[in-house]
Amino acid sequence: MATQAAPVRATHGPSLHAAAFDRRAARTRATLERALPPDDRMPQRLHAAMRHAVLGEGKRIRPQLVYAAGVACGCDEATLDAPAAAVELVHAYSLIHDDLPAMDDDDLRRGRPTVHVAFDEATAILAGDALQALAFEVLSGAEGDAALRVALLRTLAQASGTAGMCGGQALDIDATGRMQTLAELERMHALKTGALLRASVRMGALCAGADAATLQRLDAFAEALGLAFQIRDDILDVEGSATQLGKTAGKDAAQGKSTYPALLGLDGSRRRLDELAHAMRDTLAPLGVAAAELLALGEMAVMRDR
Ligand code: IPE
Ligand code: IPE
Ligand code: MG
Ligand code: MG
Ligand code: MG
Repeated sequence: MATQAAPVRATHGPSLHAAAFDRRAARTRATLERALPPDDRMPQRLHAAMRHAVLGEGKRIRPQLVYAAGVACGCDEATLDAPAAAVELVHAYSLIHDDLPAMDDDDLRRGRPTVHVAFDEATAILAGDALQALAFEVLSGAEGDAALRVALLRTLAQASGTAGMCGGQALDIDATGRMQTLAELERMHALKTGALLRASVRMGALCAGADAATLQRLDAFAEALGLAFQIRDDILDVEGSATQLGKTAGKDAAQGKSTYPALLGLDGSRRRLDELAHAMRDTLAPLGVAAAELLALGEMAVMRDR
């Protein structure tokens, strides 16, 4: 039996930041609950599928990054609610489509049947489409002035499209069954997974009105985190179990996916993760204690076991 994943904890032991992370996970859930159409409203099946995908127990690392980056730069949590929920909606849509038979053909996600299994393929496609639209509707209602809202919308749109997640997914499909070079693999990871994680950090910092130098520093951190997050995902696909991950393990090798372990082996992949962990620490060091929560999320990307 697959278990449901619990909200993100930054470290394996008790975390200094657990109370803040738990509070923000609850804020995210409340914002998502409010934004999602009720499943007793027409078309009920579509709404039920959207809620199935979003309200399952994901780790919510993207919303956590929005809050941690925003708070690190002096923003209040309420202002960060809309971008935090919006990026999670895009992420949830990307997972529905990633699991479709035409893509990774997975039947387990977040410890539950994937949307096309629990419902049907057409409903899964439409639920993904509708979640993407809902993300931008939510973001258009973000607090702040019109210039900030446009900057947030552009950030999330760019990270979702061909220069971001969709582009990376296209490269992933294209590379299936053939070996990529390391540069190609890093580029694919940076787009398919890194782009939304980077956008999360950037949106938090934008809400706080961070200066250009801080935006640049946080972006360098988020770039390292994004790559680390997908390398860890690839390692867990080799080493983890379905019960632990809440999704099918061992699929990448079975499907001939181009991954870090396939190219560098598990030891080489772990060495790359170590380098990225150092890079994240060095990048955030000048921000001092203000960046402690971000650093904890960076550690979670490297150490997570689900
Ligand atoms: C899974 O993302 C897909 C990748 C981009 C690696 P997460 O590991 O954040 O999945 P959830 O949201 O916790 O289910
Ligand atoms: C990332 O890659 C997927 C997305 C960009 C949605 P994977 O295909 O490895 O993600 P999982 O392992 O199915 O969660
Ligand atoms: Mg995939
Ligand atoms: Mg997949
Ligand atoms: Mg994977």
